[in-house]
Amino acid sequence: MNSFDLVIRNGTVVTAADTSICDIAVRDGRIVAMGEGLEAGREEIDASGQFVLPGGVDAHCHLDQPMGPGVQMADDFESGTRSAACGGTTTVIPFAAQEKGASLKAAVEDYHRRANGKSCIDYAFHLIISDASQDVLVRELPELIEAGYTSFKIYMTYDDLKLDDRQILETLAVARREGAMTMVHAENADCIAWLTETLEAIGHTAPRYHADARPSIVEREATHRAISLAELVDTPVLIVHVSGREAIEQIRWAQGRGLRVYGETCPQYLFLTAEDLDKDGFEGAKCVCSPPPRDKANQAGVWDGLENGVFQVFSSDHAPFRYDDDKGKKAAGDTAPFQYIPNGIPGIETRLPLLFSEGVLGGRIDITRFVALTATNPARIYGLYPRKGTIAIGADADIAIWDPKVEWTIRNAELHHNVDYTPYEGMQLRGRPVTTISRGQVVWRNGQFKGTAGQGRFVPCERPQPARPRGESRGF
Ligand code: URP
Ligand code: ZN
Ligand code: ZN
Repeated sequence: MNSFDLVIRNGTVVTAADTSICDIAVRDGRIVAMGEGLEAGREEIDASGQFVLPGGVDAHCHLDQPMGPGVQMADDFESGTRSAACGGTTTVIPFAAQEKGASLKAAVEDYHRRANGKSCIDYAFHLIISDASQDVLVRELPELIEAGYTSFKIYMTYDDLKLDDRQILETLAVARREGAMTMVHAENADCIAWLTETLEAIGHTAPRYHADARPSIVEREATHRAISLAELVDTPVLIVHVSGREAIEQIRWAQGRGLRVYGETCPQYLFLTAEDLDKDGFEGAKCVCSPPPRDKANQAGVWDGLENGVFQVFSSDHAPFRYDDDKGKKAAGDTAPFQYIPNGIPGIETRLPLLFSEGVLGGRIDITRFVALTATNPARIYGLYPRKGTIAIGADADIAIWDPKVEWTIRNAELHHNVDYTPYEGMQLRGRPVTTISRGQVVWRNGQFKGTAGQGRFVPCERPQPARPRGESRGF
């Protein structure tokens, strides 16, 4: 009997640090050898002329997340992770969201029920803390962090989710004490509410006014405030879905001061602009997400941030709502004012191909940075490394083999999510993952999904930073 289950031969293996041509051997779902001329495996893949990359870690996506009444996400764990796998992603970190007034642990239990038996690839959970009660801060959150839920998102906007500055400080203090990572949705809620009412009063309610209600200044102010609150508490913070130059300047300023401030951006801020919200009729609703896409100059700023290291993480922020659906974008009707349109756009399958084509083959970022942004850094920042996010002996055999010569056109009909549109319809790309391997099992090969619902496992996360018990400094 061969000692290897699978050998991938002659590929150009890329990590966040190195590129080398070698073979990779897999046994029992893990990488067990790397080198030249490895002995035969029971299964063999010839990757000559192709790139062998760590499978992507999508550290910001929303799957089967309970929404308000009458609104439903289009993707559950089965369709969402199937789509992710077909786009070269092997780990997702979606959100177990607390309802205001409800238990955080109950949200985690509910979310496990939604994922269990359905996920086609491995998954971890971030928490969403919408109610920073004493019970949550003193008991539930520390216990959940200990159990492997070591990152959480907090919101500075959305009435049903937002925390005020005092609540943010108290939550950051728990992150510091317990060694967790805090992700912040940084937009100023009061500015948005005031602008929305002002726009509505003059009849400006079409989807395109969503962008006017959430201008860059609103994001910039909240980004600066989130950074300041984190500096006060002395704990790291990661600003999610950064849309353009003004917020980037705040993050770069903080990084220049030596603060542990991380930045994440997403494909919509590279490939869409506010003009995509200004389509005929209600079509602009397809691109309503927050923060909104900006303009070409901001797109260029986001590309710069990927190139020069301001951003560490590139995620999809896949938030799937069907367009032609009374539980999706049209939940409040097909003429609803913009503030009633569910926020978010799909992109879990197109995240990596878009960045590979325009970033790597377009000459903007090198392939090791691509790996860092899309796999290694998110795995490190959220406590999954080195099991996930790299190619190394001992790591899970989560691998995407990319053919840089394939040319293809994005067609929603050929994607594997359950959304009835993609904002990137018709875009011509170069390069594509031709094989995706999840813990040693081929889940995507030559245009066919080969995985099964339920083969993905929950992966608890390590603490991303050392816990710093109360009293060590300033009494936090
Ligand atoms: O518009 C967006 N980004 N919707 C998803 C939820 C979030 O805030 O990430
Ligand atoms: Zn958000
Ligand atoms: Zn999101």
